[in-house]
Amino acid sequence: MKIAVYGGSFNPPHLGHTEAARTVAEALRPDKFLIIPDNLPPHKEMEEDSPTPEQRMDLCKLAFAGIPGAEISDMEINREGKSYTADTVDRLRALYPEDELFLVMGTDMLLSFEQWYRFRYLLEQCTLAVLARTEEDGDAIRTHAGYMEREYGARIVILPHAPLEMSSSDIRERLKVRLGSELLDDGVYSQIIRCRYYNAQPELSWLREKAYAYLKPKRIAHVAGCESEAVRLAMRWGEDPETAAEAGILHDITKKLNFDEQLILCGKYDIINDNLELKSPKLLHAKTGAALARDLFGVSDRVYEAIRWHTTGKPDMTLLEKIIYLADYIEPTRDFPGVEKLRELCYEDIDEAMALGLSMSLEDIRSYGEEPYKDTVEACRWYSREE
Ligand SMILES: [Fe+2]
Ligand SMILES: [Fe+2]
Repeated sequence: MKIAVYGGSFNPPHLGHTEAARTVAEALRPDKFLIIPDNLPPHKEMEEDSPTPEQRMDLCKLAFAGIPGAEISDMEINREGKSYTADTVDRLRALYPEDELFLVMGTDMLLSFEQWYRFRYLLEQCTLAVLARTEEDGDAIRTHAGYMEREYGARIVILPHAPLEMSSSDIRERLKVRLGSELLDDGVYSQIIRCRYYNAQPELSWLREKAYAYLKPKRIAHVAGCESEAVRLAMRWGEDPETAAEAGILHDITKKLNFDEQLILCGKYDIINDNLELKSPKLLHAKTGAALARDLFGVSDRVYEAIRWHTTGKPDMTLLEKIIYLADYIEPTRDFPGVEKLRELCYEDIDEAMALGLSMSLEDIRSYGEEPYKDTVEACRWYSREE
């Protein structure tokens, strides 16, 4: 049996890794293809919000899901201390004494192979499968491979491969500034955003695409309007525009769900409701929307709260909460008597705008003969300084 072994930190696994694995799968056609994430050395200071080894394994499962026969092995992450390939080969030899082992590596690794721990043992036990840009590096690689074969009896196969130029450390930096989605498998990127590994922030275009899939098509214009209004208000009042955009994009994510579907989400996310809320899907969508946004996209507490309070308001709101409440109310597609006055006030005095918006909302609700929600009544009192 041919066993290919592809090790690495995969922190995170990116499309360069996936493509390398695809080349191995196609060129070598191994019977068993082990992807082995290493145990990151303990002395290496791990950045905050790095995934745990198990979480990194889960990212690998997503990244290599499309590679025929690839299986993710926990062999190295379950072993204490620095991961030495020789230890892994010891273990594999114990499991597969008679089989042919292929160690997958890039050009750089072949050139420095004599510095590897127990490299003679590795050469004795394994065939090196070297992914190489044959057009550019072909001669250097063949020369070095020839030397290794003569000197150590090495067995080396060269797999022509055009590597995608990217590094995990570069991707980690990009993720922090809302970049990098195109360098990762979508499943991997989604999981990184969901868990906010590496302090990743979602690309807004990616977030729109994902969020709009949850909307009725006719609501997209409203949500896009709410986002752009929220960004303008954020710039006017000194909030982070991209955080405001995130909240705007996600604020109505559960709006299209019917009452029963809202209740299912309330159960799933342990949302407790009072009697009035249990009669109103409109009230529920703010709470379920916040919970779903956190579950799917890992939004911060600030964004969660802004979505949570966008329908009713409440006393003493944060700047971001006020921005989303008002942006939802006055975004460019909104048209109702008094909207122009409210729009102007939003950019002159945001608390006055809250007072006006809340009182207009109460009037509206009462005009339908409905009972206004207590948070809205209290919020209106708070911002009208009646207390
Ligand atoms: Fe809403
Ligand atoms: Fe809305």
